[in-house]
Amino acid sequence: MEKKLRIGIIGMGSRGTDCFGMRLKERSDVEIAALCDPNHVRASAAAKILNINPPVYINIDDMADKEQLDGVIIASPDCCHRDCAVTALKHGWNVLIDKPLATNVADGRDIVETAKRSGKIVMIGFNLRHNAVLKRLKEIIDGGTLGKVFLAENREFYDGGRTYMSRWNRLFSKTGGLWNHKASHDFDIFNWLLGFPKPLRVTSFAAVNVLNREGIPFPVEAGHEPGPSCNVCHYKDKCPDKYILSEKLLAQWGPEAQAVDGYVKNLCMYLSDKDNHDNGMAMVEYENDIKVGLFETFIGSKNDRIYTIVGDRGMAEVSLTDRTITITPRWGGEIVTYHINKEQGGHGGADPRLVDTFCNVLRGEEEASSTAEQGLVATALGQAAEFSRRQHRIVEMSEILG
Ligand SMILES: NC(=O)c1ccc[n+]([C@@H]2O[C@H](COP(=O)([O-])OP(=O)(O)OC[C@H]3O[C@@H](n4cnc5c(N)ncnc54)[C@H](O)[C@@H]3O)[C@@H](O)[C@H]2O)c1
Repeated sequence: MEKKLRIGIIGMGSRGTDCFGMRLKERSDVEIAALCDPNHVRASAAAKILNINPPVYINIDDMADKEQLDGVIIASPDCCHRDCAVTALKHGWNVLIDKPLATNVADGRDIVETAKRSGKIVMIGFNLRHNAVLKRLKEIIDGGTLGKVFLAENREFYDGGRTYMSRWNRLFSKTGGLWNHKASHDFDIFNWLLGFPKPLRVTSFAAVNVLNREGIPFPVEAGHEPGPSCNVCHYKDKCPDKYILSEKLLAQWGPEAQAVDGYVKNLCMYLSDKDNHDNGMAMVEYENDIKVGLFETFIGSKNDRIYTIVGDRGMAEVSLTDRTITITPRWGGEIVTYHINKEQGGHGGADPRLVDTFCNVLRGEEEASSTAEQGLVATALGQAAEFSRRQHRIVEMSEILG
C-alpha cells in the first residue's frame, strides 16, 4: 500500500468541510492529518460532520510544530489568504489556495514571491478549469474549430444573495470586492480559454439594486424589523430567501461558534451592511484586440453560466447548467451540439477533480492545473474592475501590475 498523503486543511468553514474535507475523506490514499481554524468550536464541529478525529489547531505555527504534512489546503476567508499562504510556504508545505489568490495584487505578490523562494507548489482553487464542459470548450478552441477568437462573453446568473450578502463576502475589506472574490474565477476562465493573452485594460459598472431595504419581498410590519439573522427573523416563514441553519449546521455556525468570533452566517441579505455589488458588468481588452465581457447577477431567477465565444471561423454557445456546447460554423455547414455527461460533485463535478489533481500533484503524478502567477493575473483583473467600478473610469492594467 502506497504511503498515505498527509494533508492539513486551514479554514474549516463551508469549503473546508463540504468540498475539501469530504473529497479528501473519500480517498483511501489520503489522511486528513490536521485541521486549523482560529475558531476551535467550528473546526471540531467540522471534524464531527466529517466523522474524522485529527488534531485541531487554532494557528498554523502550532500545527507546523507538531505535524509533518505533504500539503495544506487553504479555505479561510480571502482576506486571510496572504498570511495563511505565506506562513504555510515558510513551513515548507505545498499549498492549494481556494480562489481568489488574495484580496489585492500586493498581497498576491507576497504569495508569489514566497512560493518562488520556498520552491513549493502553489495551486489555486480555480475549480472551473476542471469543469468537463469548459474542458471540452477549451479543446474545441485549441483545436482551431472557431479559428482566431476575438470576442467572448460570459453571462452568469447566480441566486447568490445568501452566499454573498449574508456574511463576510458582502464586504470589500474581506474580499477585495466581488469582481475579485467571485469574478477572479471567471476572469481566470477567460485567460485560460484564450491561451493567457496579456490583459491591457478593464472597465466595469456594478451596484446594489435589489438586495437592500427597498428589495425586501414582503411588507414589513411596524415594530418588527427583519433579521438580524434568518433563524431568528420574524418573517422566516414567509421570506422566499430565508437561509435557516439546520441542527447539523448550528454546531458549526450556531451560538457556541458565534461566541468565539461573532461570525453570523445568515444575516438578512437585504438589511446587512454591504459595500459589494449584487449585479454588474465588466469588460476586458486584451492584446491582439481580444475583448471579453462578464455579466453577473446575484438576484436569483436561475443559475447558469452562459458563454458565447466568437472566432473568425465559427462561434460556440455554451451553457454550464444544460451542459451543452453548440458550434455554428461561420460560412454554413452543420451546426453541432455536444452534450457533456453529468458528473458528481460540486460545481458540476469540478470540485472533486480539483482536489484529486492536487493530490496527484503532491504525488508528482500530474502538473499543477494553475499557478500562483495565474492567480495573480485574475486578482489583478478583479482589482482593476473594482477600481473602475468605484472610480468610474477605464483602468489600465499597467497601473495595477506595473
Ligand atoms: N472555488 C470555489 O468555487 C469557491 C466557492 C466558495 C468559496 N470559495 C473560497 O473559499 C474560501 C472559504 O470560503 P467559505 O465559503 O468556505 O468561507 P466560510 O466562512 O464558510 O469558512 C471560512 C473558515 O475560515 C475560518 N477562518 C477565519 N480566519 C481564519 C484564519 N486566519 N486562518 C484560518 N481559518 C480562518 C473561519 O473560522 C471559517 O471556519 C474563500 O476564500 C472563498 O472565496 C471558493
